[in-house]
Amino acid sequence: MNRLEGRIALVTGASRGIGRAIALRLAEEGADIGINFLTDQHHAEAVAQEVRDRGRRALPFQADVREDRAVREMVQRVEHFFGRIDVLVNNAGIEHEEPIEATTGEHWDETFAVNVKGLFFCSRAVGGRMEAGSGGAIVNIASRFGFLGDPNSIAYGASKAAVVNLTKALAKRYAPGVRVNCVAPAYTPTDMMAHVSEAYMAGTQEATPLKRFATPEDTAAAVAFLASGDAAFTTGQTILVDGGYTLK
Ligand SMILES: NC(=O)c1ccc[n+]([C@@H]2O[C@H](COP(=O)([O-])OP(=O)(O)OC[C@H]3O[C@@H](n4cnc5c(N)ncnc54)[C@H](OP(=O)(O)O)[C@@H]3O)[C@@H](O)[C@H]2O)c1
Repeated sequence: MNRLEGRIALVTGASRGIGRAIALRLAEEGADIGINFLTDQHHAEAVAQEVRDRGRRALPFQADVREDRAVREMVQRVEHFFGRIDVLVNNAGIEHEEPIEATTGEHWDETFAVNVKGLFFCSRAVGGRMEAGSGGAIVNIASRFGFLGDPNSIAYGASKAAVVNLTKALAKRYAPGVRVNCVAPAYTPTDMMAHVSEAYMAGTQEATPLKRFATPEDTAAAVAFLASGDAAFTTGQTILVDGGYTLK
């Protein structure tokens, strides 16, 4: 499908994992891609090449989403190179998986700084520009843990619940020109999840009605839908891509 032909997309945290899959899927749908990363320039360059191999333009853009000024400068650089931004995907995220007793203030602040504040800074910087231009679509990445309370991932779960709420507030603020939606994936084997045990993985698979893990491509497909005209009358919504895990 070429639902994003001629569009310009900026994907945060696109150097690997789910962000990489989103960048490639949006490119396959016709978009040129700005690839944001924090530290991993080597992999960001590799994703840019994978996008170019699909016949689209791509460039990596380093920026720490926690820094408002860095985010604004990145948006300027992306617009300077591509002309504008039509689609923003707020994918960059971190997790400290640890029991409540081990959750330090530093870990709490770091989690919220990336997952919530960073998403807010990027949405505000791009949303205002989209509003002043020809509109656009923003897609946020939350998590099933935004819907489930997990005492072993307490800051992360709270931050992802905040993403679901922010999605609604931003959707109201930037309507009617800009749609804001969210995708909440289940456990997906990426670098972020490299530490989980075989027992955790087996238990998760067993507890999932569709009896498998999410893939980065499952989430990318939902993002592509929400970014496209097929979702033209959808805003403020969150799609759970979790194989039915939260259906309890
Ligand atoms: N994997 C899962 O099971 C799962 C489930 C539900 C939701 N999610 C969500 O999906 C998203 C992607 O997860 P993932 O598993 O693909 O993670 P990942 O493999 O750990 O990749 C994280 C990405 O975020 C970037 N990043 C981290 N901090 C950043 C910052 N301050 N500024 C800019 N970029 C930053 C990283 O950049 P560098 O490479 O440069 O460090 C990297 O590209 C996250 O929001 C996560 O919470 C993941």
